[in-house]
This record gives sequence, C-alpha cells and structure tokens, in this order.
Amino acid sequence: MTTLTSAQDAFMHAIHERYAVKSFDPTQKIDSDTLTKILEVGQYSPTSFGLEFTRFIVIRDQAVKDALKPHCGNQPQIDTCSDLVIFVSRTDVEPESEYVHQQFGRWGLDETSFAGLMDFYSFYMSQFNEQTAPYWAGKQAYIALGNMMTAAQMLGVGSCPIEGFMKSEVMEVLDLNPQEYNLHVIMALGTPNDTKRPKYRLPLEELVSYR
Ligand SMILES: Cc1cc2nc3c(=O)[nH]c(=O)nc-3n(C[C@H](O)[C@H](O)[C@H](O)COP(=O)(O)O)c2cc1C
Repeated sequence: MTTLTSAQDAFMHAIHERYAVKSFDPTQKIDSDTLTKILEVGQYSPTSFGLEFTRFIVIRDQAVKDALKPHCGNQPQIDTCSDLVIFVSRTDVEPESEYVHQQFGRWGLDETSFAGLMDFYSFYMSQFNEQTAPYWAGKQAYIALGNMMTAAQMLGVGSCPIEGFMKSEVMEVLDLNPQEYNLHVIMALGTPNDTKRPKYRLPLEELVSYR
C-alpha cells in the first residue's frame, strides 16, 4: 500500500469529495483570487498541438445568469451559483487559419521544421470535416473542465458541470457568433447549498482491463 504525502492525500480527498452541486448559496461569492486560480488551471491544461482553442467566458452578472436559466432547463445551479464558466472553442482550426499559424509561430521553429509541423497538422486534420473539426477542438475543453472542477474542490469551491442547455439559445443570449465559436459545456461554481449525494461508481475491475 502506497503511503501518501499530505498533498497527495488532499488531492485524493478532493477527488472523492467533489460532487455535482445541484444548488448553491446565492449569497456567497467566490473571491476573484480563487476564481483566477481555477481559471489558471484551465489555462495550464493540455491542448492538442498546444493550440489552445478553448475560451472561458465567466458570467458573474446576475442578470446574465437569470437570462440564461430558461435556456438551461431552468436548472437552479444557473442562477444560484457565484459564477458560470462557459467553455467555448474557436472554430478556426483549419491548417490555413491565421490563428493556427500564429500559435505554432510561438515555437520559434526554423522554416523547414515549421513546414514539417504544418504538414503533420494538415495530415492529422484531414480526417475531420467542417462539422467534426469543431468537435475535435471542443473535446479539449473537457480536459480543462475536469481539472478545474478538481481544483475548485481543492480550493473549497463547489461545482457542477452542465450540458443540459439549448446550445443555439445560449449562444444567442451570449451573443456568440457560431462562425467563430462552438459552445460545449458550462461549469457552475459556488458554495454548495445541498449535501453530497451517494456516489454510484462501477468497481474498478469492471472499468479497467489490463492487456
Ligand atoms: C458533461 C457533463 C454534463 C453534465 N450535465 C449536467 C447537467 O446539465 N445538470 C446536472 O445537474 N448535472 C450534470 N452533470 C453532472 C452529472 O450528472 C454527475 O457528474 C454524475 O451524475 C455523477 O455524479 P457526481 O459528479 O456527483 O459524482 C453533468 C456531468 C457531465 C460530466
């Protein structure tokens, strides 16, 4: 049995204690430093090719939360939370995109290596089409989401991941142009006003196989 350091133990405790909060205390607001730390965890989450297509839109304004609620199945997390983080991704993922070139440009590669990288990116992207490419980019938003929920828990903040919304309606409320952004998931953050429910998890033996 591995003995855990206190930091490792705190991490595992957060993993077990985190739960999808269904109702928050609307009077408790997350302080900006804590919120920034949670966002920093999103910033440092891995992204395919390091391209960072995900953008995090933070909704602190109660009026915007209220406006979103009916488009999110009237879920109480939406208007009782302290903050909503809306995970969107840029849609300009194609190899010709100025954004992609600018991001790869940060690596400071010589001309030949840059051309090689672009060739590989083009080869990789050729498996997607206009419909599927934005979803490939979006999958990466969920890596940040997972990390950020664990980070929130470690920082004493409750969270709920939310996919129960009408995408086009939420995009409209937030004035997001579908040509530019694809909406994936929402995370509500705040102080829980409910109690943790029992955790239902399949045993590891059923989830994991070794070959
Ligand atoms: C991608 C995703 C979308 C979800 N959408 C919602 C949602 O719209 N509303 C909600 O109350 N919970 C939502 N959940 C929470 C799940 O129901 C919850 O994580 C699951 O039942 C396991 O419970 P636990 O997170 O409390 O361990 C979502 C979870 C994920 C991962």
